[in-house]
Amino acid sequence: MTVVSERAYAKVNLWLEVLGKRPDGYHELETVMHEVDLYDDVELEPGGEGIHLELDDPSIGVGEDNLALKAVRAVERRLGRRFDARIRIKKKIPAGGGLGGGSSDSGAVIRALNRAFELRLDHEEMESIAATFGSDTAFFVRGGTAMCRGRGEIVTPIPAGGPFFFVLVLPGIHCPTPRVFKSLRLTESCRQSYDLLRCLEKGDVAGMRARIFNRLEDPARREFSELDQILQLLSPHRAILSGSGSTIYLLCESRGDADEKRVLVESLVNTRTIVVSSASR
Ligand code: C5P
Repeated sequence: MTVVSERAYAKVNLWLEVLGKRPDGYHELETVMHEVDLYDDVELEPGGEGIHLELDDPSIGVGEDNLALKAVRAVERRLGRRFDARIRIKKKIPAGGGLGGGSSDSGAVIRALNRAFELRLDHEEMESIAATFGSDTAFFVRGGTAMCRGRGEIVTPIPAGGPFFFVLVLPGIHCPTPRVFKSLRLTESCRQSYDLLRCLEKGDVAGMRARIFNRLEDPARREFSELDQILQLLSPHRAILSGSGSTIYLLCESRGDADEKRVLVESLVNTRTIVVSSASR
């Protein structure tokens, strides 16, 4: 058995509406996730005894709480067997920023196990395993662009034009997802994603920019004043929060437009920025 490598791409949420609170304490979502070409490298080498996880970012723990290890345990539980392997993750996706880095690593680990040990799991089976330990983990099995419902684990791939270009604004504020959901004030009048989906399919960037929406933006702004200030400064440029934050993004017309917007953003706010485009697997 040989070493297998997988790219774990980051995502942005082009749409996030909260439909209500569920009896299990989670929220019923309708969210459009879109993979972008900022990625962690995940390498899996079968052999040794048990699982050894190595990460090049010392701020991220490598214990059983790590989503990459949770992914291995979930596959082990489903198949009733143990794996011996060394997993190396080179991080480029900033942790805790609403870009799905940890979840994406876990999706990549499931794909890597599937290939390295010739498990013959199909996408549905891998998604169902991923859904046992996280809400946005299932999306990262296939990635691309998808409508995610339920807790986020019911994944339907959707057509998307593009590639699209984004300026990611990374304020480096840690926004714990449970805290943001807790601060959410549920509304009776949920927005419909239909128009956004139509623009997304056509690759109509101006139309998308007018319709992208994140219900978690208001609670995140209430909880984190620094984030609120940055969003206020960037609001003329239609900046929007990704997931529960703290990453903010600007959807741009082209790479050139994104490069220009990045300079503009950097003149307005003192934060790290990256230009990314849609991922192609
Ligand atoms: O499932 P995951 O660990 O990604 O969720 C983190 C937290 O985010 C949950 O504990 C919950 O507080 C909140 N959440 C939620 N509704 C969702 C997804 C997450 O309330 N659909």
